[in-house]
Amino acid sequence: MMVEISPSILSADFARLADDVAIIADVADWVHIDVMDNHFVPNLTIGLPVVEALLKHSALPLDCHLMIEDPDRWAPRYAEVGAGGVTIHAEAAKAPIRTLREIRSAGARAGLAINPATPVEPYEDLLGEIDMLLLMTVEPGFGGQRFLDVVLPKVRRARELIKGRDLSVRLQVDGGVGAETIERCAEAGADVFVAGNAVYGADDPAEAVRALRADAER
Ligand code: DX5
Ligand code: ZN
Repeated sequence: MMVEISPSILSADFARLADDVAIIADVADWVHIDVMDNHFVPNLTIGLPVVEALLKHSALPLDCHLMIEDPDRWAPRYAEVGAGGVTIHAEAAKAPIRTLREIRSAGARAGLAINPATPVEPYEDLLGEIDMLLLMTVEPGFGGQRFLDVVLPKVRRARELIKGRDLSVRLQVDGGVGAETIERCAEAGADVFVAGNAVYGADDPAEAVRALRADAER
């Protein structure tokens, strides 16, 4: 399984986003963008205009994680402007199948995210509609939180469900992923790793990405 690393700019310098994206451009696979609306989560970050601006400065595809209340309305827009991937939360989407199909038909990777306490089984039949399943390993809203080990059995079950259906759905983990936790995530079946603090909190973010990849491939 090819490992993908998606550094989260939530831990970057918001006043120097283009520079902070450039420093990981040669070593990462995606740039993870945490869109928060202060309703679905208690934090407010960036939205469509900043994503559009960043697209012009990023050599890597943008992996947009929408932590917003009305993803059905907004997700297709992110795909249309050129995001490489758009992930919506199952807890927020009112018409997830329609929205996921719209993301795909706009040419982006369609992702479905679930919070730590949301079971994966109710979404089993949606696996054929998505390119990536995102399992949150912290409660969404903030970077730098502690990894929730309690999610690991769900990572394992999700990988089994994907295998059982012979699908090529990517399995992403997001939250508290770093040197101490990435191997356990990989061993449980994750193959796309978001890391904010572990990358942008490091003295050398590019080296941190290389080290994470090596750990995940172990
Ligand atoms: C949390 C965000 C994450 C966050 C991860 O709500 O979805 O992408 O940036 O940050 P770390 O890796 O610092 O936990
Ligand atoms: Zn995220």
